[in-house]
Amino acid sequence: MELNILTLSYLIGSITFILGLKMLSNPASARKGNLVAAGGMTIAILATIFLYEEDGEKLHNYGWIFGGIAIGTLIGFLAAKRVKMTAMPEMVSLFNGMGGACAMLISIVEFNHFYEHLRPYLEIGLTEAENFAFGSETSLQGSGAQLALHLVIILAGLVIGTVSFAGSIIAWGKLNGRVKDFAFRGQHIFNIVLLLIIIGLSVYMVYHTSRFEFPSFYEEESVTANTWLPSSFKYIFYGILVLSALYGIFFVLPIGGADMPVVISLLNSFTGVAAACGGFLYDNKVMLTGGILVGAAGTLLTILMCKAMNRSLANVLIGSFGGGAKAGGGAAKEQGAYKEISLSDAAVVMTYANKVFIVPGYGLAVAQAQHICHELEKLLESKGVEVKYAIHPVAGRMPGHMNVLLAEADVPYEKLLEMEHANEEFPTTDVVLVLGANDVVNPAAKTDPSSPIYGMPILDVELAKNVIVNKRSMKPGYAGIENDLFFQPRTSMLFGDAKKVLQDLVAEIKNL
Ligand code: TAP
Repeated sequence: MELNILTLSYLIGSITFILGLKMLSNPASARKGNLVAAGGMTIAILATIFLYEEDGEKLHNYGWIFGGIAIGTLIGFLAAKRVKMTAMPEMVSLFNGMGGACAMLISIVEFNHFYEHLRPYLEIGLTEAENFAFGSETSLQGSGAQLALHLVIILAGLVIGTVSFAGSIIAWGKLNGRVKDFAFRGQHIFNIVLLLIIIGLSVYMVYHTSRFEFPSFYEEESVTANTWLPSSFKYIFYGILVLSALYGIFFVLPIGGADMPVVISLLNSFTGVAAACGGFLYDNKVMLTGGILVGAAGTLLTILMCKAMNRSLANVLIGSFGGGAKAGGGAAKEQGAYKEISLSDAAVVMTYANKVFIVPGYGLAVAQAQHICHELEKLLESKGVEVKYAIHPVAGRMPGHMNVLLAEADVPYEKLLEMEHANEEFPTTDVVLVLGANDVVNPAAKTDPSSPIYGMPILDVELAKNVIVNKRSMKPGYAGIENDLFFQPRTSMLFGDAKKVLQDLVAEIKNL
C-alpha cells in the first residue's frame, strides 16, 4: 500500500514538473507554475523521506535530513529575497553549481558502495571472497555487463556533475568580478586533451568491469576465470573527479563575460543530465523525470539564446565575445557627431506624439528604474499617447530579464511586444525611448559584416521618426562595440542615470 502511495506521489511530482514548466512559458501564469512545480517536488521529497523502504527498512536519519532541509531552505529564502535582479544570473549559476555538486556526491557515495561490494575479489583470496559474496547481502550481484552499466551511470553522473559544479562556480565568479578572464595559447587543445583522458580512463574502468563475473559455488571454472578487477580503480575514479573539475574550470575560464548566460544555461542542462543519472542509480522515477526535464529545458534555452544572437554554440564557447578585453569587431571607425536633447524638449516631443515605444535594456535594470518607467507610461497615456514596450529576446543579462523587470512594476503584459511585432510598428512610431539598451539596437548587426554582433536580429528603432537614447555616457554596451545608432540624424542622446532622467522627465511632463 505504502509503495503505491510512494509511486503515486512520484507520478504527481512528475506531472506537476511538466505543468509547471508549461505555465512558466507565459508571464501571466509563471509565478503559479513555479509554485505548482515546487509543490510537486515537496510531495515527492516528503514521500521519499517517510515512505521509501530498502530491504524492509525505512529512512531513519531524520535529524540530518530535516536539519539539512532547514538550513537549505533558510539560505535559499534569504538569497532569493536579497538578490538584485541584475545579479540573478549569478545566483542561478551558484544554485546550479550546487545541483552539479549533489550529482557528484551521489556518484562518489554510489561508487564506494560499488567498490566495497567488489573489493573482496581484489584484496582477499577467491575462496574467502566467494564466502563473503554469498554470506553478505549484496544487491550488486549480476553479470559483468550489468555491473559495467551501473558503473557507466556512476561515472557519467560524476563527470557531468563535477564539470557543471566547477564550471558554474567559475561562471558565478566571472559574473560578480571575482574571477578574471584567463586564457592561454592552445587552451582549447588542452581542454580537448583533458576530455580525452577523462573518457579514456572511464572506458578503461568500464571495460574491465564488463569482464567481471561473480564466482559461483557450482561452476568452479568461472571462479578462476573472470574475477579480475584492478585494485587501482579507486585512484582512477578520484583521478577522473579531479580532471573533471579541472575541465569545468578551463572550459568556462576563457569564455567571454557577455556569453555567461548561455554558458550557465548549458551547464544547467548538464546538471539535469547528471541528476537523471542519479535517478537511474536509485531507480527513482521522479528524479529521472526531473533531471531529463532540466536537461531538455537547458538545452532548448541554450539553442534559443544562440539563435537570438545569431551565433553557433561553438562560436559562443570559443569566441571570447564580450570578454574583459573588449571585443573590437570591425576596426574602430570615425564616427560623426552625436546630438543631445534637453529634458524639456524630450518631454515636449513625447507628450505630443501619437505613438511612443520604450526599449528597455540592461541599464534600466541597473538603475532599477522600472517603477518610474511605468509611471511615465501611465502619464503619457493619460495625455492620449499610445505607449508600448519593445522587448528584445536577449536584452539584459538573462532570458526574460526585461519581462520580469517590467512585471515587477505591474506593466500590463499586453503592452510588451516581441521583437518581430515591434519591428513592424517602428515605421509608424513617433518616438522611441531607448532606456539603457545598446547592443540590441545596434544597426551594425545588419550592416557591418566585421562586427561581432553581425547577423544578430535587432530592434529596428532607427525606422521611427525620432529616437531618444538614455544612457550615462558614450561607452559601449556588453559586446564592447560602438553603436552607429547614436550618430544617426534622427537620434538624440539624453544622458544620465535612467532613474533620475525618468523622474525628471515625469516632472517636466506634469508641468506641461
Ligand atoms: P547592453 O548592450 O549591455 O547596454 C546596456 C547599456 O546600459 C550600456 O551601454 C550602459 O551605457 C547603459 N547603462 C548602464 N547603467 C545605466 C544606468 N544606470 N542608467 C542608464 N543607462 C545605463 O544591454 P542590452 O542592449 O540590453 O544588450 C544585452 C547584451 O547582453 C547583448 O550584447 C546580449 O547579447 C548580451 N547577452 C544577453 C543575454 C540574455 S539572455 N539577456 C545572454 C547572453 C548575452 P553607459 O555605461 O554609458 O550608461
